[in-house]
Amino acid sequence: MMTLYGKQKEIENKLNTVTNAWLYEAKTILCHVLEMEPIELVLSKNKMLSNDEVEKIDAMIKGRLQRIPLQYLTKNQGFYGLDFYVDEHVLIPRPETEVLVEKVLKYAKTLNSKEELTILDIGVGSGAISIAIAKRLDKGHVTGIDISEQALNVAVVNAKTHGVEDKVTFFKSDLFENVTKCYDIIVSNPPYIPVPDLSTLEPEVADHEPHLALFGGEDGLDFYRRLIPEAVVFLNESGILFLEAGHDQFEAIEKLFEISGFKEVNHFEDLNGIPRFIYGKR
Ligand SMILES: C[S@@+](CC[C@H](N)C(=O)[O-])C[C@H]1O[C@@H](n2cnc3c(N)ncnc32)[C@H](O)[C@@H]1O
Repeated sequence: MMTLYGKQKEIENKLNTVTNAWLYEAKTILCHVLEMEPIELVLSKNKMLSNDEVEKIDAMIKGRLQRIPLQYLTKNQGFYGLDFYVDEHVLIPRPETEVLVEKVLKYAKTLNSKEELTILDIGVGSGAISIAIAKRLDKGHVTGIDISEQALNVAVVNAKTHGVEDKVTFFKSDLFENVTKCYDIIVSNPPYIPVPDLSTLEPEVADHEPHLALFGGEDGLDFYRRLIPEAVVFLNESGILFLEAGHDQFEAIEKLFEISGFKEVNHFEDLNGIPRFIYGKR
């Protein structure tokens, strides 16, 4: 038999070997297994843990020591103020992508269109971008596509959780292969890591996140070379394309926008001041 506090100290020491966020991760794992709020952990220091609780905590620690990301163990990642179910079939939504959602929503508001605004999200993954936009958009519909059936299943679960089933449509498509309509806004956070960078990634990313969601060919730009020229065809007049990119890719991507005939091509920065988002109008 062990107290909650004793277990907390034990798992902090173990997590310390794999992450700098060991204190946070230990608390998150305990809160998840014991179904407690963080404050309750403090108030329940002397609680004796049951064998069942200890087994569940140990199983999660074992996974974490194997470098499975915490989010895949708790099956949860917060994004744009919403909780998303995540598993090994989808990229864990990153905080920088919230800036992309913010900009798309801001732009959508300026359009003030009488008709329902249409938005296409290419590579939905967990549905983070589509659902965050759908949740905050007064009048509009988001279509999300992905080549991965398993990712689409996750996006459907999240759309139901957030009550936006009527405002989103998901279907399988290899980029624009099965897309038949034009949209006012196209947005995408495509795979952009150069394949040679695999060895530089943390094991949590390299060994556990889907490679389909990560890698964009030798220089990371394969998807942009396909997506940008095709996007022109699937945008309404004055439609706009917003893309997320890697930390050093915006100049090459702006050129691809210009070569494809986009106007008013520009970029904006993430919260660390890195020019990461590129946009242009048809
Ligand atoms: C970087 S993840 C982005 C996921 C999500 N939008 C987000 O921001 O968290 C890229 C997504 O693109 C999808 N994908 C990869 N190749 C694709 C293709 N050819 N056509 C459509 N989607 C693709 C992957 O399955 C993955 O879900």
